[in-house]
Amino acid sequence: MSEEPLIRCRDLTKVYRKGRMEVAPLEKLTLDVKRGEFLALMGPSGSGKTTLLNLISGIDQPTYGELWVGDREISKMRRGQLTKWRASECGYIFQLYHLVPILSAYENVELPLLLQKGLSRKARRSKVEGALELVRLSDRADHRPSELSGGQEQRVAIARALVADPALLVADEPTGDLDRESADQILDLLGELSGVHQKTIVMVTHDARAAETADRTLHLEKGKLVESRGGVGV
Ligand SMILES: Nc1ncnc2c1ncn2[C@@H]1O[C@H](COP(=O)(O)OP(=O)(O)OP(=O)(O)O)[C@@H](O)[C@H]1O
Ligand SMILES: [Mg+2]
Repeated sequence: MSEEPLIRCRDLTKVYRKGRMEVAPLEKLTLDVKRGEFLALMGPSGSGKTTLLNLISGIDQPTYGELWVGDREISKMRRGQLTKWRASECGYIFQLYHLVPILSAYENVELPLLLQKGLSRKARRSKVEGALELVRLSDRADHRPSELSGGQEQRVAIARALVADPALLVADEPTGDLDRESADQILDLLGELSGVHQKTIVMVTHDARAAETADRTLHLEKGKLVESRGGVGV
């Protein structure tokens, strides 16, 4: 793990307005995540965990505050720039995998590469095969999601998240729908991606055992972060 932060949040605030109702799940949040760090994020339902992942991954934008990933200020980027940035710099892993049901595992993993211009079919093939090998599913490349177990579906989703070789992976309860054995495989894989491949990972989880596999655990409570274990943050 490098000492240099990949993610820097300063006074990050998100306010949602719906009619007369106002919800502010994140208030002046400050956070650094180091390059190669595996960070677990816990907290009660509604505490803003998904909101924070959506900001870090550029799916949503903060109402106030600064958010940097590497040398890019995500909080200042326009929607089109964010979409491009995300395609190469950030992979998202969801609780329920979100694979396209009519596509094979291979085709699902290939999807993010189709957004990148100038990649030959051969270059795509080598990246997709590499990603499937990393999640140990080379022998299931032709299977559709319905022909895979939940744990295998999540491994395909991880291959899709990392196929473009982003520095950052965010995962929203990636083991929330899995049995213990499949969950452990996913956690081992995430640990390997951070430890061996130097990916920075921010994982939301409700499972204290899953959080234990990370380098550091933070709790989100009433819009603020509280450290529970691991090294000192900011
Ligand atoms: N698009 C939106 N519009 C309005 N309010 C929203 C929106 N997204 C989230 N919220 C509100 O923001 C708060 C935080 O939601 P968020 O989804 O981040 O919680 P969470 O910590 O991920 O919860 P869970 O553990 O249940 O997934 C909630 O009160 C929610 O209702
Ligand atoms: Mg959530």
